[in-house]
Amino acid sequence: MPLLSATAAACPNIALIKYWGNKDHEFRIPENGSISFNLSGLATKTTVTFDPAFEEDRLSINDEVIEDSGLKRVKSFLKIIRQMSGKPYFAHVTSQNNYPMSVGIASSAAAFAALSVAASAAIGLTLSERELSRLARRGSGSACRSIPSGFVEWYPGNSDQNSYAESFASPDHWDLTDLIAVVTKKHKSVGSTAGHALAHTSPLQTARIADTQRRLSVVRHAILNKDFEALAEMVELDSNMMHAVMMTSNPPLVYWEPTTISIIKSVPIWRNENIHVCYTMDAGPNVHVICLKEDVQTVQAKLKEIPGIQDVLIANVGQGTRLITD
Ligand code: PMV
Repeated sequence: MPLLSATAAACPNIALIKYWGNKDHEFRIPENGSISFNLSGLATKTTVTFDPAFEEDRLSINDEVIEDSGLKRVKSFLKIIRQMSGKPYFAHVTSQNNYPMSVGIASSAAAFAALSVAASAAIGLTLSERELSRLARRGSGSACRSIPSGFVEWYPGNSDQNSYAESFASPDHWDLTDLIAVVTKKHKSVGSTAGHALAHTSPLQTARIADTQRRLSVVRHAILNKDFEALAEMVELDSNMMHAVMMTSNPPLVYWEPTTISIIKSVPIWRNENIHVCYTMDAGPNVHVICLKEDVQTVQAKLKEIPGIQDVLIANVGQGTRLITD
């Protein structure tokens, strides 16, 4: 029998219009559409090997054997692959990240995008990009956006069939840079899966959802027309709306640290100084400071002056998930 093994590499992505809350938790069908771009330079590389001789699924991340909820999540995902392929084999999964996990840099997005591409290829399934996006969504909603390349929109749909992401502009369409200001490297207390389940407890979620089409349309057009001013205003509003929902959930989720607030108060001031820059945050305290290439050095110098920033990771607009064949 041929070796049932494959390796894939994926980037995380940063959402400019956020996904927060599900219509269906099991299938991760989101309440609203979202828009993101992939983050080049940050990478997760995953190898999956299926073997009829294996007696259980195994997972290691960055050379550490994982046995907690991380393994449970991967097992549930591999179960879907086994059902799709009709092959009942267990798998060994090894994954390497070159950036810190669980600090709001969407490591689960890159993880499940890479796992989808590697596991499906390893077991002999030939899937289209759309099918891979749908599959990745089952592991982590935002992972569906790391499958296609560049600037990506996730159409929320209302079923497993019609909830997937697609690219609407290539990575070289617009030279945006994401300076990720790392405020803490500690693991976050409430992960996004638990957070999505709380979204409906906020009285603000209904208003956030009702206004989503408008924000999606402004951001999609701002990207296509390379209109940074329009992008900046809507991206900050959208992030603030999601965090308002988080903070008003029951129980409340407050991801911000004092340094987070220093950054988000500074960025609009810099924009008034004609620097093309805006901020957005995921389910964590780190701030993604997005700017045009021409402003990277200025923004980097300004971030250095803010006390409490531990590190700044730099990413540009990246490719989608790919198989590594060598
Ligand atoms: O894919 P999940 O379940 O990790 O959720 C991601 C949620 C946010 O990062 C906060 C927003 C987004 O759209 O990426």
